[in-house]
Amino acid sequence: MDETLDLAALHAAHTLTQRARFDRALAACGYSGALVYSGPLAPIFRDDQTHPFRVHAWFKAWVPLLDVPDCFLYYEPGRTPVLLLHQPRDYWHKAAKPPQSYWTAQVDLRPAADRAAARAALPGDLGATAYIGEAFPELAEWGVAAANPPALLTRLDYDRAVKTPYELACLREANRLAARGHRAAARAFAGGASELEIELAFVRACGMREQELPYNPIVALNESGAVLHYQLLERAPPAALHSMLIDAGAEAAGYASDVTRTYSYADADFASLVERFDEVQQALCSGVHAGVDWRDLHLSAHRLVAELLHESDITTCDGEEAVAAGVSSVFLPHGIGHLLGLQVHDAGGLLRSPEGGEIPRPEGHPHLRLTRVLEEGFVVTMEPGIYFIDPLLEQARGDARAAKINWTRVESLRKFGGIRIEDDLAVTSSGAENLTRDAFAAERE
Ligand code: GLY
Ligand code: MN
Ligand code: MN
Repeated sequence: MDETLDLAALHAAHTLTQRARFDRALAACGYSGALVYSGPLAPIFRDDQTHPFRVHAWFKAWVPLLDVPDCFLYYEPGRTPVLLLHQPRDYWHKAAKPPQSYWTAQVDLRPAADRAAARAALPGDLGATAYIGEAFPELAEWGVAAANPPALLTRLDYDRAVKTPYELACLREANRLAARGHRAAARAFAGGASELEIELAFVRACGMREQELPYNPIVALNESGAVLHYQLLERAPPAALHSMLIDAGAEAAGYASDVTRTYSYADADFASLVERFDEVQQALCSGVHAGVDWRDLHLSAHRLVAELLHESDITTCDGEEAVAAGVSSVFLPHGIGHLLGLQVHDAGGLLRSPEGGEIPRPEGHPHLRLTRVLEEGFVVTMEPGIYFIDPLLEQARGDARAAKINWTRVESLRKFGGIRIEDDLAVTSSGAENLTRDAFAAERE
């Protein structure tokens, strides 16, 4: 994290905002307090091993305590939140040390050896307390008013789209780490490494364990770039290298970055397509500011991408026609971006108001994850793509779209898989701060 920052002051201000959001949401839903559980360690079926622990967003929104299961945060409006830190009497594992950090002044920190001790430390009557988190067997006897009441969570999710200055600092740091990882990955790719070796280069440069990353890195060589959430990591490089699509992010204090870059290995034509695509992506980034309806940006992304497809001789019709005929969706079948924060696909992207309701997606665009009008403080990704996806191409070949696609050109590009370029943007009143480009520029220095 940037050492010039006063993290204690930033986190104190963040906690005030967090408290105010809870105060409003609890009052509106008729609760006197909230109990937020960090989550259990989930066992693997009939094994004494557990799945890696991942704390959920509603807990880490309060405190960046990311690796301690079985903690509880209890909040009552007007009172300092109580953090019950799980400290088992156990000689098999290392208990969490009572943390002393920039955030600890915001909570009343108390140890609890187990869930029974945590319950004993909480008020006897939880009859007006809303519980947030996974259920566990004893919860039924704790007497909470409701578990995960949708109306309360909806209000919190709606508010969370606007990031506090503390959260923006964390998101900048997450981008800084990702940029470092991406640079190392690009070097590994240029050296002919396998997908797994590239992924390990990314993880090492970020200085994180895989389980600490916000999502499994997508490292797709050649035609695998056409698989949107490609999940394999081949151990050996392909016989001939053409391209790499890498979608990989890091985490800072529980906040995610989500960054994609595409590289040509040695092909000048594909390299220039990537370069032109980068210009389109940057043009779309410059359309991001408070007051923009994300659905309009999504549709203009389709038009711009469709123009590029035409200019690059991949399609035979202009942008308007390609969008109207569903040709752009053959090559760009996902949403143009989403909210980003404590979760990679942050909650609340479709919410109409704090009370709920959904803002519909544009017709024909079922995968859009964000339909809200942007506000200052939103953090979004901008991630247009062009892919050569066999099942979608097959469908288009069988209908009226076939005549609008240059199949010879498509065939010559299939081996590259696709192009995606993804930056994280913090919305301001007049434009957007590109957290990712800034991080890459700083990394070069
Ligand atoms: N990394 C997943 C996404 O870009 O949405
Ligand atoms: Mn994304
Ligand atoms: Mn991504």
